Amino acid sequence: MRKTIEELSLDIPVFQAPMAGTSTPALAAAVANAGGLGALGLGAASVETAAKMIAETSAMTGGPINLNFFCHKPMELREEVARDWIARSQSRFERFEAAPPNELHEIYQSFVVNQAMFELLLESAPAVASFHFGLPAADKLAALRDRGIMLIASALSLEDARRVEAAGIDAVVAQGWSAGGHRGLIDENGPDERLDTEALTRLLAKNLSIPVIAAGGLMDGADVRASLSWGAEAAQLGTAFIGCPETAADDGFRARLAEGGKTVMTRAISGRPARCLDNEFTRWTADVSDAEVPAYPYTYDLGKALNAAAKAKGEPGYGAQWAGSEAARARFLPAAELMQALMEEFEAAEADVA
Ligand SMILES: Cc1cc2nc3c(=O)[nH]c(=O)nc-3n(C[C@H](O)[C@H](O)[C@H](O)COP(=O)(O)O)c2cc1C
Repeated sequence: MRKTIEELSLDIPVFQAPMAGTSTPALAAAVANAGGLGALGLGAASVETAAKMIAETSAMTGGPINLNFFCHKPMELREEVARDWIARSQSRFERFEAAPPNELHEIYQSFVVNQAMFELLLESAPAVASFHFGLPAADKLAALRDRGIMLIASALSLEDARRVEAAGIDAVVAQGWSAGGHRGLIDENGPDERLDTEALTRLLAKNLSIPVIAAGGLMDGADVRASLSWGAEAAQLGTAFIGCPETAADDGFRARLAEGGKTVMTRAISGRPARCLDNEFTRWTADVSDAEVPAYPYTYDLGKALNAAAKAKGEPGYGAQWAGSEAARARFLPAAELMQALMEEFEAAEADVA
């Protein structure tokens, strides 16, 4: 028996997007306490940090929480690509009186090979576990299902969504082209159809028998309501929550978000395509080809080092400022107030439709 979204007993079909580096226990708890699904993005966390974040969240809420992991295929680093990438960054580091790293490291492991993280997830038994960039092996999925955990995975095409459904996953996140953060492509070098959120949601809802969660560019309660009319059972909102004081977004990220919110797709920060606010990093790397960028997450090792060097000299524009293309509509409210506003807008939109 597949788990259903109704079993989560939400007051409003809003899933706070898991956002590695940005979502926090305080945000997840506030959203869950306000009747939505809270989430922790643990894709880049160590097992120790993940355990701490899970415990902190449980201490603040008994509501439903989604723990999210990256299931990318571990990639080989090509030495010559890494060498050229490091050399290319030399002058940029020098601007901030720093030096680039001598070599690039795999700064975090994929969930598919991280046995200790899998055991932590099994032991934590959250209401929901979700996967981005791919899926864990069938035996792991079976063990998680036996623990009563609802399983969710992202898909950007009908083909990937069918793979998700065939693996016995309970629901699929339809991640539209406007979505902030990393594209959840299973093969990051494969074709990207760039379907917008409405088109992808309608396509998956029509062709799959599992629930679809719409994600990408959904910013208010009317958008959540609209996503249900496309066939979604819930909406996953990321960018809408970045401005909440509970997130880990730094002042530079918040300021850039407030400035107008132009976004671009870039592979140069982490090694995988992701939608980011237009900033100094994306402008510096605007002309690089995919072939020049080292594998994920090795590229992120240099990206994070450059951001740290720039920040130390007062330049906030080199961060991984992931955001969706509707970022201009972001609000800067405490999560409980934002949830209240989403609820009121959702109800008003429902009344309009009736
Ligand atoms: C700052 C940020 C970080 C993100 N990190 C993750 C992540 O760790 N795991 C994940 O599955 N999705 C991640 N996403 C993508 C979201 O799950 C979702 O697809 C996206 O936020 C929806 O588009 P929106 O930002 O326009 O609402 C991230 C998005 C943002 C904005």
